[in-house]
Amino acid sequence: MSNTILVTGGAGFIGSAVVRHLINDTGHTVVNLDKLTYAGNLESLTSVSSSERYSFEQVDICDADEVKRVLNSYQPDIIMHLAAESHVDRSIDGPGEFIQTNVVGTYTLLEQARAYWNTLQSDKKDGFKFHHISTDEVYGDLPHPDEVEPGTALPLFTETTPYAPSSPYSASKASSDQLVRSWLRTYKLPTLVTNCSNNYGPYHFPEKLIPLVILNALAGKPLPVYGKGNQIRDWLYVEDHARALVLVALEGKIGETYNIGGHNEKQNIEVVHTICSILDDVKPKESKYAEQITYVQDRPGHDMRYAIDASKIERELGWTPKETFESGIRKTVEWYLNNEGWWKAVLDGSYQGERLGSVS
Ligand SMILES: NC(=O)c1ccc[n+]([C@@H]2O[C@H](COP(=O)([O-])OP(=O)(O)OC[C@H]3O[C@@H](n4cnc5c(N)ncnc54)[C@H](O)[C@@H]3O)[C@@H](O)[C@H]2O)c1
Repeated sequence: MSNTILVTGGAGFIGSAVVRHLINDTGHTVVNLDKLTYAGNLESLTSVSSSERYSFEQVDICDADEVKRVLNSYQPDIIMHLAAESHVDRSIDGPGEFIQTNVVGTYTLLEQARAYWNTLQSDKKDGFKFHHISTDEVYGDLPHPDEVEPGTALPLFTETTPYAPSSPYSASKASSDQLVRSWLRTYKLPTLVTNCSNNYGPYHFPEKLIPLVILNALAGKPLPVYGKGNQIRDWLYVEDHARALVLVALEGKIGETYNIGGHNEKQNIEVVHTICSILDDVKPKESKYAEQITYVQDRPGHDMRYAIDASKIERELGWTPKETFESGIRKTVEWYLNNEGWWKAVLDGSYQGERLGSVS
């Protein structure tokens, strides 16, 4: 059965991977609702934007009237809500936008979705789903191997781990997750939530660690690493995340939460060294790229370790990641080498330039 799926934030890093997957690999129709902030880029969608199954609406999720217009005119069967402010460092510098988009925007979308859902006839109403896309950062951080006795089993985030967000970004996402769950409990709006670990891959805005390290390495600039670089993240290739999200949107059980992760726990410094050695291999120069690594003062409140237990989505929906970290990071480095046009346009446009290559 073909559905109409409204994707918010479809011009962003993960949203554009979801839209490309829906258009290229399924028969579903996509409406991309995006405000086009500095992080939104329609160039990430050129491969699918001429499809008859694709439409774009430049709309702010905080604008209730515009959201209402889009819902009523396209009559979606499913909403996949990815639109957000997503960069932790920006949330520390200026939390206001994060509260506005992630909390007020999600509230606005929920209210408009509820009003729209109440107008639907029984079959369409029964099948409707609101899928909220969130992060593992809502759970706070986990013990680091350096902090525990050798041989101690290290815990993972499960769907029942209590929320303990550390940054304005993760607190705003935690708030939005809880709003979504309360709209199910109070108003019976059929919602689902997913919480995912750090993503990497093509079309990633170069303020985040992996694309920034690749581009700074190529430009001969310093490769900034926070603190000792021993913070651990569980990396997932963005196309594996996009497949998981579409699977949850179509087959997930209403009211459930699914954690999504790649079983790839890596210290930031290991990630930077891996990128440097791939570049040494595919684009060698006189000196080693790792000589450009520079340690800088750590971020305030920096979480030390994130790691996901993804066994529920694997068991219940049959999802597994296709990429290992080694295969995905090589593909990513090669993508940036082969897609200079995309990242040059991003850098020439709105890129702020001074940001560290931080991970969430
Ligand atoms: N990047 C990660 O590693 C990661 C991991 C887990 C979960 N997430 C979540 O996934 C979602 C997408 O993340 P991303 O990395 O693709 O983010 P991104 O910053 O690359 O893209 C966000 C998109 O949302 C749009 N947007 C922002 N404010 C908007 C508004 N008010 N109205 C409409 N559109 C707006 C932007 O224009 C952009 O296209 C976010 O909700 C994020 O919290 C991200």
